Amino acid sequence: MKLTHLRLSQFRNFAMQEVSLRPRLNFFLGANGQGKTNLLEAVFMLSRGESFRSGQHEHFLKDDQSRARVAAAVESPAGRGQLILDFSEGRTSATYDGKRTGFSTLSAQIPVVLFSPESLASIKEGPDQRRELIDSVLATRTERDSKLLREFSKVLRSRNILLKQIAKGDTRSTTRGSLDSLTTVFLLLATQVTEARLRALREIEPEWKKSVAQIFLSSGSSTERIEPAHVEIRYEISRHDAMGWTADQIFDAFSKRLEELHSRELQLGASLVGPHKHDLRFLFSKNDSRFYCSQGQQRALILAFKIAQISVHHTVLGRYPILLLDDVMSELDATKRNRLMEYLEETTAQVLITATDLIWSRQFPQERNAVFAVENGNVTVTAQGAVRAVGSDDLSIFSRSSTDPLEDAAT
Ligand SMILES: Nc1ncnc2c1ncn2[C@@H]1O[C@H](COP(=O)(O)OP(=O)(O)OP(=O)(O)O)[C@@H](O)[C@H]1O
Ligand SMILES: [Mg+2]
Repeated sequence: MKLTHLRLSQFRNFAMQEVSLRPRLNFFLGANGQGKTNLLEAVFMLSRGESFRSGQHEHFLKDDQSRARVAAAVESPAGRGQLILDFSEGRTSATYDGKRTGFSTLSAQIPVVLFSPESLASIKEGPDQRRELIDSVLATRTERDSKLLREFSKVLRSRNILLKQIAKGDTRSTTRGSLDSLTTVFLLLATQVTEARLRALREIEPEWKKSVAQIFLSSGSSTERIEPAHVEIRYEISRHDAMGWTADQIFDAFSKRLEELHSRELQLGASLVGPHKHDLRFLFSKNDSRFYCSQGQQRALILAFKIAQISVHHTVLGRYPILLLDDVMSELDATKRNRLMEYLEETTAQVLITATDLIWSRQFPQERNAVFAVENGNVTVTAQGAVRAVGSDDLSIFSRSSTDPLEDAAT
């Protein structure tokens, strides 16, 4: 799965930008505030429908524009296709080859894995970031898991609305009735999401251990040497390690806890039990890496997690996701940076990497890799001959038709 072309219209600080992407490594270099993350955000949104940054819909629209569009030409074993994401009237919608498509389908069909400074910092950040680590695995794995996550968040939101109503004094029996029936669905979905997370973690953990050992070994320092057996992942439910729990155990634990916390939930107006309350711990020589490891070691553990995620994805599904690396090279020391670059070269994945400078010296074959400069919402190819010029015949897929609502706005 590769993106061969991208077109950004009125998205963030891009007025109208077309980019011919190469099948392997695509470097986007530029000073701060030029649009590098915006470009990666556009690709991420093509897959997930939502951004990895906080912000509202209007933030995606350039200045005072009323709509924006991101389009991509997609090449997969099944053939070529055109994916379009429209931002209009507060809504984001997607079409694939002209047909409306849901994001559960897209995130599994066109999976993207993001490496960002925030994701690398997830051990020291809050539990949300750590849950996002595992949920991004589910979102990109299968349509079923991706749908499950979306359904759970929808039911969680609805349940919280009802609980809030009751907390504010709504005593109607219909509200209680709705809460009871929603709680039944909530319990089932909460169990399924937890089960799916555990299944994914159990698959990833052995690869992660190998990857951790490799990163620490290549760092060469004897104090950093670590065997795979010295590291471990814990999935915590109410402070218990649930890595070995079955679906029945999860369901029983949730039911019991829901009963215990029933009056507290009604008082606070929020769901206090479920996967949105769980946490991940990364143990390093039996110590919680959050309190034991240095920042660089913590980043290495997460880097190893991402590498393991990609390797397992490839083993299970037989193809690589698209990898987005936003400004992460500067977060890693030279050995970890090299280990990451080596890993990226071992794969056949398409990779989009942003950086302010090329701070590593490696040679890449020009026909499959490219270096772009990003400046004030303009993307240009910097390595001569690395890619064909934007505007070549391959871009015919983006030819503007009369059905393109951005035609006027863009020209
Ligand atoms: N809706 C918008 N309309 C116009 N410009 C926008 C919009 N949203 C963001 N920008 C501009 O985009 C720029 C930020 O882009 P981005 O975050 O991609 O920078 P970057 O190149 O990744 O920089 P850094 O190296 O600091 O991470 C800012 O200059 C901001 O003003
Ligand atoms: Mg950035």
